[in-house]
Amino acid sequence: MARKTIKGIVLAGGSGTRLYPITRVACKQLLPIYDKPLIYYPLSTLMLAGVRDILVISTPSDLPTIEALLGDGSRLGLTISYRTQEKPEGIAQAFIIGADFIDGDNVMLILGDNIFYGAYDFLRQAGEFTQGALIFGYYVKDPQRYGVVAFEDGGRVLSIEEKPARPKSNYAVTGLYVYDSRVIEIARSLTPSKRGELEITDVNNAYLEKGELRLVKLERGIAWLDTGTCESMLDAGNFIATIEKRQGQKIACIEEIAYRAGYIDRRRMQAILGSMGDNAYSSYLKEVVREVDGGS
Ligand code: TTP
Repeated sequence: MARKTIKGIVLAGGSGTRLYPITRVACKQLLPIYDKPLIYYPLSTLMLAGVRDILVISTPSDLPTIEALLGDGSRLGLTISYRTQEKPEGIAQAFIIGADFIDGDNVMLILGDNIFYGAYDFLRQAGEFTQGALIFGYYVKDPQRYGVVAFEDGGRVLSIEEKPARPKSNYAVTGLYVYDSRVIEIARSLTPSKRGELEITDVNNAYLEKGELRLVKLERGIAWLDTGTCESMLDAGNFIATIEKRQGQKIACIEEIAYRAGYIDRRRMQAILGSMGDNAYSSYLKEVVREVDGGS
C-alpha cells in the first residue's frame, strides 16, 4: 500500500490543575523545561519523525500565546496551524477538532506535555506507517497509574486497560499515537466516559477490535518523561540539564533540528540568529551552523 503523508497534531490544552497555582494564569506547555518551553519537546519529536504539517490545539486563552511563540512555522520550514479546544473534553476530541486538517491523511498525535529522548529509531517505524494504529509502550515501575498494554512479541496488541488494579504488563501507553484517517469517524462515534471525556483508550480499543492496533516497544535506552506535576516537571528539567551539560548538545532545539534536516537554509538560520540577540541559545546555534557548514 502506498504511504500517505503523516500530519502531526500537538494537543496542548488541558487545565493543568495538578500544577496549580503556576497554571492559574500561565500555560502549562509554555513553562520552562530547563532551557526551553515545554512544547518544544513534543514539537521536536514530530519534526524528528519527518512530520512537517502540524496542527496545534489548545485552550482559547492559551492558544494566542502559543501562536505568538511558534507562528506559522515557516521560520522552521514547517506549516503550523491552530485550533481551539473549548473545554478539555478528552484527547480523542483532537481528531474531531482536526478533521479538516487531517483530510484523508495519516496522523501522528503527541500530547503537549510528553518528552521523548534517546535513540529515535522508533520514530522511523512511525514514518513507515501505512494503516491502522500504532502506539508506543514504555516499561514503568508503577503501571497501575497508566493505560496498560499487553502484547505479543511481534507487536500485536492483546489488550489495553486504563489504570488496572492488576496490570497484565509493565508497559504504559505513552502520549504518542499514529492513526490512519479512519480515526476521525472512530472519534465521532465515541460517547464520553464517566469523567466526561472522549477517551483515547476507546479509540485504541476500536482499532484493537479490528485487529489493526500495533505496539512499538520503547527500549531501555529511551527516556519517556511526562511533566504533569511539579515534581515530574523538575525531574524532567534536571534530566535535560544533566545531558545537555555533559554533552554540550541540546535536546529539542527546534532550530537545530530544522537546520540539520535541511528544512531551513543558511539564510533563514542567519535571520533567526539575528532576531535572537546574544545568549547561550544563540551561541549554541552558531556552533551548530559552523559544524554543519564546515562538515559539508
Ligand atoms: P492531562 O495531564 O490529562 O491533563 P492536564 O494537562 O489538564 O493536567 P491536570 O490533570 O493536572 O489537570 O493531559 C495530558 C496532555 O493532554 C496535556 O498536555 C493537556 C492535553 N489535553 C488536552 O489538550 N485536552 C484534553 O481534553 C485533555 C484530556 C488533555
